Amino acid sequence: MAGRVEGKVALVTGAASGLGKAAAAMLVREGARVAVTDRNESGARQVAGELGEAARAWSLDVTREPDWERVVDEVLATFGRLDVVVNNAGIGVVKDIESISLEEWRLVHAVNLDGVFLGCKHAIRGMRKCGAKGSIINLSSVAGLVGVDNLPAYCSSKGGVRLLTKSVALHCARKGYGIRCNSLHPTFIETPMVDDLASMTGDKAAGKARLARMIPLGHIGEPDDVSYAVVYLASDESKLMTGAEFVIDGGTTAM
Ligand code: NAI
Repeated sequence: MAGRVEGKVALVTGAASGLGKAAAAMLVREGARVAVTDRNESGARQVAGELGEAARAWSLDVTREPDWERVVDEVLATFGRLDVVVNNAGIGVVKDIESISLEEWRLVHAVNLDGVFLGCKHAIRGMRKCGAKGSIINLSSVAGLVGVDNLPAYCSSKGGVRLLTKSVALHCARKGYGIRCNSLHPTFIETPMVDDLASMTGDKAAGKARLARMIPLGHIGEPDDVSYAVVYLASDESKLMTGAEFVIDGGTTAM
């Protein structure tokens, strides 16, 4: 049986680590060719090397428009098409509204929101250039749906991603491009980002147990809990979905 995304070409940002790396691997397993991109170039190369022939690495800092221009053009030249862009790269600063600096606020928004804005803009450019009926998948978070006291910039940027996604979805639908755009809203997933969060109080295991207690299902997620949603949204199985929010949160926002 053919893979679920057989013949498609996907670009994943922040793919040297965590959710991006897992999504790139599952997309390859399901038949796609994947541009593994990250600002950490050696990390991207390592992941692409592990994934074999179907993957190639690119250095891409999502905050830099010249990087987007170059990489989208090179992906089109290398693979001949672009069907899927996963705007996954993101960062967090754990400081409440009284302690976060304007510089930190701007840095989080530059990566998490400006980066997704540029990713959507250049995804549409690349997909239209090759005539693809594409899918743009934006990583928001449960923190883009509900507030978290010590993550003001993260919540603001992820909330922005949620509505940017809907605007892009409606624009592409009205233009008749056949390009869809949806957002993903995971809770805590086992990645280096959550390791850092859990380690903040010194005891990582206790930190993870504390995070798990915040999730009704009682445990932190695995990266593939999100990769399955990425593959679904990347595939034609989700052809009626656009402007939607895919919540993967163990019941967190049901409370
Ligand atoms: P991670 O920290 O493990 O990986 C993030 C990757 O993004 C790294 O490889 C890093 O080099 C890259 N990156 C950072 N800034 C970049 C930039 N300017 N340009 C290009 N690449 C850049 O993080 P994780 O956990 O895999 O998160 C991935 C996405 O999922 C993020 O957007 C995050 O906010 C979101 N998310 C993560 C959750 C979690 O619990 N792990 C929960 C909800 C959302």
